Amino acid sequence: MTTPAPSAFDPRAFEGTAEYYAVGRAPYSAALADTMVRELSLDGTGQLLDVGCGPGVLELPLARLFDDVTALDPEPGMLRVGQRRCQRAGVANVRWVQGVAEDIAALNLGACRAITFGQSFHRVRRLEVAEASYDLLAPGGSLVLISHHVDGRPRPADPGYPEVPHAAVRKLILDYLGDGTRHYLATWDEGQPARFEDTLSQTRFGGSRTTYAPGRPDLIRAVDTVVASYFSLSYAAPRWFGNRRTGFESDLRQLLLEYSPAGLFWEWPGDTELVIATKS
Ligand SMILES: C[S@@+](CC[C@H](N)C(=O)[O-])C[C@H]1O[C@@H](n2cnc3c(N)ncnc32)[C@H](O)[C@@H]1O
Repeated sequence: MTTPAPSAFDPRAFEGTAEYYAVGRAPYSAALADTMVRELSLDGTGQLLDVGCGPGVLELPLARLFDDVTALDPEPGMLRVGQRRCQRAGVANVRWVQGVAEDIAALNLGACRAITFGQSFHRVRRLEVAEASYDLLAPGGSLVLISHHVDGRPRPADPGYPEVPHAAVRKLILDYLGDGTRHYLATWDEGQPARFEDTLSQTRFGGSRTTYAPGRPDLIRAVDTVVASYFSLSYAAPRWFGNRRTGFESDLRQLLLEYSPAGLFWEWPGDTELVIATKS
């Protein structure tokens, strides 16, 4: 089979993953909204721009903290699923816009109180996009880079289920998809500074501060959810498997059941990290 060669900077990297993303990805901290209010002194007003919104992941908890929200993503499937989830949840102050971070200056948004990137800043040209964000923010407004963070965070007690065997699943994916995926995983950062803090210190923000909201200690995931979480990854999106997709899914399910005959896994996504850069 021809090996795919995905790129971290392909704006269509998540094509065909939105439904899986909405089901499979671990949620951020339950305290994320409260942490945003406290750290940014939010008062329910102003505009939020959320870049790389995916299926409305940050809109659901954060939209109520602002007058209005612009949710930006290049992938139409993500925007469709995000809109549907927000409608169902009664979140009505979000405008869904197809586009890339590199073009935010052209959105004619007016000054933003906050600009968020939830697990999406690593996918953009960071220095350029951080500078464009600086221009879009109102004085005192903040750029907030949100992600799960495991390393160095206090690990909660395991509730008695095995963890997802990520190393074994990754090997299975590589067996199916081969060298293109291996290359992609090895060159993820494509020469950009690895730490967001390092990028931000090179911009007009002049630096950043980092805070954490406690992650979810009690996520028990069924096999279906774990399968969805893998199909939600850009490098394991269903389209890469072509006509071997069914075979892969069946091998993945079998592998998971070997590790957990009950078909249940504990997932600790880590604490939710907020790297915050404020425009003075
Ligand atoms: C890992 S998902 C994050 C989704 C969501 N924000 C979250 O917190 O889970 C990354 C998202 O960034 C989007 N993306 C990829 N390249 C982008 C770019 N250049 N500009 C804006 N968004 C981009 C993808 O389509 C995808 O929806």
